[in-house]
Amino acid sequence: MKNLRMIFAAIGFLAIGHAYASEPISIKFSHVVADNTPKGSGALLFKKLAEERLPGKVKVEVYANSSLFGDGKEMEALLMGDVQMIAPSLAKFEHYSKPIQIYDLPFLFDDMEAVERFQTGPVGKELLVSMEDKGITGLGYWHNGLKQLSANKALHSPKDARGLKFRVQASAVLDEQFKALRANPRKMSFGEVYQGLQTGVVNGTENTWSNYFSQKAYEVQPYMTESNHGLIDYMVITNTKFWNGLPTDVRTELSSIMEEVTVAVNLHAAQMNERDKQAILDSGKTKIITLTKEQREQWRDQVKPVWKKFEKEIGVERIQAAQAANQE
Ligand code: LMR
Repeated sequence: MKNLRMIFAAIGFLAIGHAYASEPISIKFSHVVADNTPKGSGALLFKKLAEERLPGKVKVEVYANSSLFGDGKEMEALLMGDVQMIAPSLAKFEHYSKPIQIYDLPFLFDDMEAVERFQTGPVGKELLVSMEDKGITGLGYWHNGLKQLSANKALHSPKDARGLKFRVQASAVLDEQFKALRANPRKMSFGEVYQGLQTGVVNGTENTWSNYFSQKAYEVQPYMTESNHGLIDYMVITNTKFWNGLPTDVRTELSSIMEEVTVAVNLHAAQMNERDKQAILDSGKTKIITLTKEQREQWRDQVKPVWKKFEKEIGVERIQAAQAANQE
């Protein structure tokens, strides 16, 4: 009897081993933006390198433009194992890690170099692993860029935003940011923004040039203000159980590919945004407003009190570390 059980166990083991050897590990990478954006191109490069360097072992399917899961659903899908990788904007983690809200504080970072320094420093690294107890492992930060404002009217000074309805990502900080301007924030999935702007459900929004251009926001927003007032960046995340369960050689190779892709994305994000800003200008449909130093300070002064509201949840020392990254 014992022998029989051992034989069955051995057959089972061989069968699993065989399935493992012949079936590539499937990685579904789902995101909400277009292919020709920093995140979209990063996902495609990850697929290319993973399939080239782990032939027959890994198959990566990329689903862009919310075609598999949109905002609100993608995180759940990752935790359920329906997708293995996503890269939500850092504004979309508040239910999983309060300190990650730091990235939404308006006028926190002076430029993308400061963001890079903060993310590669101790606090940035700590935040990458801050959700392991929830089953989420951070694999890296991908840049998009700084946010600009857009609206159906010209926004020069903060009072121009009063009373307007602005689409925001699902973030309490961003909600408060627009309330501080005496505007009306409205949370909305990324995939619904174009229609929301077109139909007047919202009058304005905030995003990067690459997201504005690829979503054709210039068709429905006659004004954009180059405010550089906040950040849209991403954390590439995976399901911790899935990741830790990968064969060691596969996990090691995928980690090094992820590092390589992160360098490439972060090197090209600024260029892609510049390219798309120019394309918006070339469309002739949107007027891009630049702010004087004094005007920009007015916007900053108006929204800066938001920091205080989230200081406890985020941690004062983390905010100090981010500010220090501006001065290095
Ligand atoms: C948004 O929802 O506005 C963006 O964060 C979408 C994205 O992933 O860039």
